[in-house]
Amino acid sequence: MLKRKDLLGLIDASKDEITEILDLAEEFKNRIKRGEKKMSYLDGKTVTVLFYENSTRTRTSFEQAAKYLGATTINIVAGNSSVAKGETLVDTGKTLDAQRNDFIVIRHPMGGAPYLLAKTVKAGVLNAGDGMNEHPTQALLDMLTMRETFGSLKGLKVAILGDIKHSRVAKSNLFGLKTMGAEVVMYAPETLIPKGIDQLGAKLCKSKKEALDGADVVMGLRIQLERQQAGAFPSLGEYAANYGVDEAALAYAKPKAIVLHPGPVNRGVELTSGVIDHERSHIEDQVLSGVAVRMAALKLLNDAR
Ligand code: CP
Repeated sequence: MLKRKDLLGLIDASKDEITEILDLAEEFKNRIKRGEKKMSYLDGKTVTVLFYENSTRTRTSFEQAAKYLGATTINIVAGNSSVAKGETLVDTGKTLDAQRNDFIVIRHPMGGAPYLLAKTVKAGVLNAGDGMNEHPTQALLDMLTMRETFGSLKGLKVAILGDIKHSRVAKSNLFGLKTMGAEVVMYAPETLIPKGIDQLGAKLCKSKKEALDGADVVMGLRIQLERQQAGAFPSLGEYAANYGVDEAALAYAKPKAIVLHPGPVNRGVELTSGVIDHERSHIEDQVLSGVAVRMAALKLLNDAR
């Protein structure tokens, strides 16, 4: 049984906890597919979505998840709130707590912000992405998509290509996948690989072929365009040629390999359009997995209260 107040990262998530979330998410995903969108597990509860950064998928899927579970949802865009008048995160948290919010879903540009909020409030806190640190529900939805395809995560070779240094998705996937017994290999320009990631269990590859060879899962990560201006790599064209995945590169992976990307995708940079729209691309399915995983996380945290 998940016995946590908050879901802040996968760095300390056990195999049993991840399995429990994925099992329930799989059930929710099947129920959504059958058209069931009105459940009552969070009746009378309030979920506030507090985003200090832009989002399409994570914000809407958390809101959808809370609504499907019967909760009331409140959306706060930091730029339109008293944050713009200088209110601190701690004071914003205290205000939301005083209003008896049950859960706060936070995205913040500063790594660690959800941990600070969680220490401040009685509400359960869910990390929807904090700086370059973690994005736990993204990794859980990626793992759900993989597990549904292959039946198990154990022994899978997952190749992650892209801006690993600035990616919270890469780190949460590394923590979760290693715990579940998968192999994680990474390939990127050296300027986009964080120091010490190999000490955390990632295998760093010297070529795209080495990374993709025999992979079960090919995961592209978004190149943050400002990185090119900062000199992390020479040009988007060169990045795409050397580190991007096209159909020829995909052929190095196993014949049944799947393609994932957390989105938003830079078409033609991390992945070509042919790969994004390939029959083996599960990028759209990841989005539905996202709603289901966020439902499971909210329900299990609520059960633990
Ligand atoms: N994958 C992800 O976090 O997407 P958004 O930024 O659109 O939420």
